Amino acid sequence: AKEVVRVLVTGAAGQIGYALVPMIARGVMLGPDQPVILHMLDIPPAAEALFGVKMELVDAAFPLLKGVVATTDVVEACIGVNIAIMVGGFPRKEGMERKDVMSKNVSIYKSQASALEKHAAPNCKVLVVANPANTNALILKEFAPSIPEKNITCLTRLDHNRALGQISERLNVQVSDVKNVVIWGNHSSTQYPDVNHATVKTPSGEKPVRELVADDAWLNGEFITTVQQRGAAIIKARKLSSALSAASSACDHIRDWVLGTPEGTWVSMGVYSDGSYDVPSGIIYSFPVTCKNGEWTIVQALKIDEYSRQKMDATGAELVEEKNLAYSCLS
Ligand code: NAI
Repeated sequence: AKEVVRVLVTGAAGQIGYALVPMIARGVMLGPDQPVILHMLDIPPAAEALFGVKMELVDAAFPLLKGVVATTDVVEACIGVNIAIMVGGFPRKEGMERKDVMSKNVSIYKSQASALEKHAAPNCKVLVVANPANTNALILKEFAPSIPEKNITCLTRLDHNRALGQISERLNVQVSDVKNVVIWGNHSSTQYPDVNHATVKTPSGEKPVRELVADDAWLNGEFITTVQQRGAAIIKARKLSSALSAASSACDHIRDWVLGTPEGTWVSMGVYSDGSYDVPSGIIYSFPVTCKNGEWTIVQALKIDEYSRQKMDATGAELVEEKNLAYSCLS
């Protein structure tokens, strides 16, 4: 039998948490033969709801679920975890300045970084979902220096999946036949969803998305803005955030990272920039990556045209600016 894996979900009493924990307990994240122990963290005002979620996990009698730790104590939550999904954070409320929200999240991610560094299992893999996701991940990296930087990532897989979904709807093809879009940069409205390397499997072989769509105005216009604004569109429709698709994409992110990406396919992950594609180093930026043996590698040597270059630079500049704002909150 496989050794049990401990998975931490912070903000577990929230919307995404509620969608995510049953997926993990069912084996959607780590596979149908991987037993798990769930560690769920939330803050005291959400403690009662958190214990309610724990009751439901017991009631669902998941065969793979070997235990549940539900706590408001960050140290207890982090002990021995192999995978940490950071969904908890401070949301922007009406009338709040960007700097105030940043300041709250910087202090949360700073203290959770220390707890993970001290108490998580060696080689713990971290996925930050809570916004501002890239910059929260950067703060976590800075304050957990003993966790290898390649182990700290943020979620842009939802944006990646949204781009696949838009292409599939437009061409009326199976979403599973569309691949190799790229989300570059920040998980924000400046992200650049790039279809220049994307393909569709057709009865007569793999074809470029650009050739099949044959409408550059749509691809350079409405397609990009739809993906960038999708989160806001869902909040408007549901009056709640995109919890189902965020939870599902978080499972995709970890599954591919741990179990590997299919041959010839890449996915988008927010990772610590090494300066590939002339992206500024020292920020968490979304790149195309392949994964093997539990490690991601940035896909190299994709051709970047002038239009893409501008968009990649703009989202990079926003991340540098966010980083400066985050640092100004530390002092
Ligand atoms: P939510 O408000 O329903 O849940 C957040 C939970 O975090 C709450 O239960 C809250 O009590 C908890 N929390 C707050 N501070 C905490 C702390 N210091 N430690 C532990 N838990 C804490 O929000 P929802 O809809 O679940 O979204 C969570 C986050 O994910 C938000 O920041 C949202 O913007 C972000 N998000 C990111 C996406 C992505 O693709 N990267 C997609 C959708 C949402």
